[in-house]
Amino acid sequence: MRRTTLTQFLVEQQRSARAIKPELRLLIEVVARACKAIAVNVGKGALANLLGNAGTDNVQGEAQKKLDVISNEILMEANEWGGHLAGMASEEMETIHEIPNRYPKGEYLLLFDPLDGSSNIDVNVSIGTIFSVLKKTDELGPVSERSFLLPGTAQVAAGYAVYGPTTLLVLTVGTGVHCFTLDREMGSWVLTQSNLKIPEDTSEFAINMSNMRHWEPPVRRYIDELLAGREGPRGKDFNMRWVASMVADVHRILTRGGIFMYPRDKREPDKPGKLRLMYEANPMSFIIEQAGGASTTGLERILDVRPGKLHERISVILGSRNEVERVAAYHAESRRS
Ligand code: AHG
Ligand code: MN
Ligand code: MN
Repeated sequence: MRRTTLTQFLVEQQRSARAIKPELRLLIEVVARACKAIAVNVGKGALANLLGNAGTDNVQGEAQKKLDVISNEILMEANEWGGHLAGMASEEMETIHEIPNRYPKGEYLLLFDPLDGSSNIDVNVSIGTIFSVLKKTDELGPVSERSFLLPGTAQVAAGYAVYGPTTLLVLTVGTGVHCFTLDREMGSWVLTQSNLKIPEDTSEFAINMSNMRHWEPPVRRYIDELLAGREGPRGKDFNMRWVASMVADVHRILTRGGIFMYPRDKREPDKPGKLRLMYEANPMSFIIEQAGGASTTGLERILDVRPGKLHERISVILGSRNEVERVAAYHAESRRS
C-alpha cells in the first residue's frame, strides 16, 4: 500500500486544491516537526527528569509543569527563523512574541497551547498540543496583540497533536479534517484517515460533573435529561467520559461522536468558562465544524466571537451537531423565559 506523508499531503493541497500557499505549508511542517520533538520529550518522562512542576506560574496563575515550559520553547525555537511568521502567542507567555529583526518576517500568526492536559502528565494519560494559524490583516506596521484579535472564522489552519498510545496529528486547512500517525521508526507523519466526519447523533457526553452545582440552568437541564436515561425525556441511556485533556476528549468525539462541554459557570463571573478562546476553543471549533459537527458558547457560534484579549476564556460546547444544537436551543429558551 502506498503511504501518503504529511509533506506529500501538503504539497498536494498546495498544487491541486490550491488550499494553501507555500509559506503556510512550511509553517505546518515546522509545527508538525516541533510536535515530534515534544513527543520525544513526553515519551522520556521520569527517565529524563521531565515530570512534575517547573516551579513557575503562567499568566493564567496556573503552576507550569516542566513539559509545559519545554514544549513552549520547542515550538518557539522551531518557528522563529523560518520567515513564515509575523508573531506567535502561547498559553505559557503573557504577551505576544514578535519575530526578532534578525530573521525575515512573514504574514502568518501562530497561536498555541503547547501542552494541553497538563494535569495528566504525571499520571501518564494522553496529553497534546493545540495550534491555530491566522493571517495578519494589518499589513503595515509592527505586529501587536491587536493583530491577533481576529475571530475564529479568520483561521487559515488549525490542528492538534495527541501524545497517546500512538502519536497523532489532526489537521485542517479548511478542506476537511485529516489525521496523520507518527511512524516512530521512520520519523514521518503518515496520513491514516482523510475527511473525518463526526456522527450527527450520539449517546456519549463529556463534562466535569464535579462542577454541577455551579452550572447555569440550561446546562443543568440538558445533563439532567441525559442522566435520566431510558426512563427520562430522551428515552435512551447516555454514557459519560472525561479525560481532562481537551485533545483526548475532542479526538474521541471526532472518532466516534459525542458532546464536549466546559460551560461558563457561576464560580468566577468575570471568567466565562475555563478554556481559552484563541488557542483552545477556536482551533478545536474549526476542526469540529470542518468534520460536520457544531460548536457554540451556548449563546453564539464560537468561531464568530470577536476576541477582546489574548488569553480570554470562553464557554465551550462542541461535537455531534444535533446534541450541540439542542444545548443551544435550551440556552435560547432559558433566555426568553
Ligand atoms: P491546560 O492543561 O492546557 O491548562 O488545559 C487543561 C484544560 C483542558 O485540556 C481540559 O479539558 C480541562 O482543562 C480539564 O479541566 P478540569 O481539570 O476542570 O477537569
Ligand atoms: Mn489546554
Ligand atoms: Mn496547556
